[in-house]
Amino acid sequence: MNKLAAITTALDVAAVRAEFPILSKTVYGKPLTFLDSAASAQKPRAVIDAETNLYESYYANIHRGVYKYSQDATEAYENTREVVRAFIGAAHTRECIFVRGATEGINLVAQTWGRQELGEGDEIILTHLEHHSNIVPWQMVAEEKGAIIKVIPVLEDGALDMEAYAGLLSERTKMVAFAHVSNAIGTVTSAKEIIALAHKVGAVTLVDGCQAAPHMKVDVQDLDADFYVFSAHKVYGPTGVGVLYGKEALLNAMPPWQGGGDMISTVTFEKTTYNDLPHKFEAGTPNIAGGIATAEALKFVSDLGLDNIAAHEAMLLEYATKRIGEMNSVKIIGTAPHKSALISFVMEHAHPHVIGTILDRQGIAVRAGHHCAQPIMDRFGIPGTARASFGVYNDKDDVDRLVDGLKKVMDIFG
Ligand code: ALA
Repeated sequence: MNKLAAITTALDVAAVRAEFPILSKTVYGKPLTFLDSAASAQKPRAVIDAETNLYESYYANIHRGVYKYSQDATEAYENTREVVRAFIGAAHTRECIFVRGATEGINLVAQTWGRQELGEGDEIILTHLEHHSNIVPWQMVAEEKGAIIKVIPVLEDGALDMEAYAGLLSERTKMVAFAHVSNAIGTVTSAKEIIALAHKVGAVTLVDGCQAAPHMKVDVQDLDADFYVFSAHKVYGPTGVGVLYGKEALLNAMPPWQGGGDMISTVTFEKTTYNDLPHKFEAGTPNIAGGIATAEALKFVSDLGLDNIAAHEAMLLEYATKRIGEMNSVKIIGTAPHKSALISFVMEHAHPHVIGTILDRQGIAVRAGHHCAQPIMDRFGIPGTARASFGVYNDKDDVDRLVDGLKKVMDIFG
């Protein structure tokens, strides 16, 4: 990783790209132009090597063995927890729970905190931007408990209507759960302000940080977030690993979720007592290799510097917005003043899936569809969009290739 630390202040994209084996591949004989990092980011060599190295050199189950490999694997896995803690600015590793992904983290909170704390007529505030994973778990617990879901609307540009939000808050509000960054249209929400307003009425907050963690410095204490979730695979790490951050007092007051090994302290047929944080919420053998490799992903991002990454991606967003904005039959959906590095768009005569397929044949990978965020598509009266999302390894050439690809779509569809 020292090689990366040596990359100078501004992002050296060629050096970054060289760390990602897949980026030298060709697709249909064309160089891969990968513009779908919002769905899942590609993996640098250090992440791939960390998994291989574990399996080849010191693999064993963790938290259970007195022998060397088990202890070494445990140490590496728990080291990731400390890397995570530092990455999000948590006060203690006890507050960092490993889960399978952000989706599982949100379900955990809904099924433990939610089932314990919500009652008839209590209100949960979501936003119109949410991914299904930050809607459905709340609907499930709301239905069970008789709670009510309220939704913060978005303005025409895709920014949240903060006045409307202020009007929704009341002493009945128990939870405000919202995306730090919209996966579908890129809006960056005013997380700190949303949280501060929620706290004024005594509500608890959960931030879906999936699309923020790869792109900006996250500090859960500065945000004062009660819960914050993200998935490793979008931060250049492995699939099957996510982080649920929660304030210690809240986590301690919550009942455990899944029962099983590791989450207990003592078990008899009469009574079980539970383990301390964070293990209370980590039943069963976890994704050991993924967990260990996650440390490499977060170090990779930290070594590059989140400020450098944010500056590079802001430059790409500006360039792409200008070039795509100049195309007559393309309409960009989501033009909020504060946006992350993705462009969602529709074209006059071509369905998003058709756009995606034509681009694919040119080696360009974009996501097409509703992006698991149907409500925000409905808000704009469209079934879906094509979405180009950027990561650390993208450069202006990728944008140019996308624009050339879209010209081909225009040639075909007029
Ligand atoms: N939520 C991911 C996306 O936006 C999968 O593509």
